[in-house]
Amino acid sequence: MKNAALFTFLAGTVLAAGSVHAAAPGDAAAGQQKAATCAACHGPDGNSENPIYPIIAGQYRDYLVQALTDYRSGVRNNAIMRGFATALSDEDILDLAAYFSRQESVLKTPDPE
Ligand code: HEC
Repeated sequence: MKNAALFTFLAGTVLAAGSVHAAAPGDAAAGQQKAATCAACHGPDGNSENPIYPIIAGQYRDYLVQALTDYRSGVRNNAIMRGFATALSDEDILDLAAYFSRQESVLKTPDPE
């Protein structure tokens, strides 16, 4: 069951990555305008200061597209995000992903020992 879910996730990621490359890459400036709706929880640049809301600044663009597409379809089931994602068009998702993926994240990878 766990493996099946992982496979579905990976297969979906590969398919989404392929279709994103074939389509428009998204407009970060338009995404910034659209991100006003997201700021209350994720912060204006995606660096949420409240740990109950994930930091999405600097996340891979394809990951953001996948997450938003999955919230919209219900594959990723979250009541809060579903409400916001259902209002998004494919273009909105690409624009938002272009914007948030370009923001510098406050997250840092610890130095390896
Ligand atoms: C009312 C608060 C709220 C608003 C507004 C909101 N989100 Fe979220 N968002 C959340 C929560 C809570 C989660 C974690 C849900 C989960 O566990 O899957 C989340 C998760 C996400 C994720 C997945 C992050 C990850 O690490 O997998 C993305 C991407 C995302 N939101 C993007 C957005 C975008 C883009 C908008 C604006 C269109 C937005 N959110 C608006 C609360 C919010």
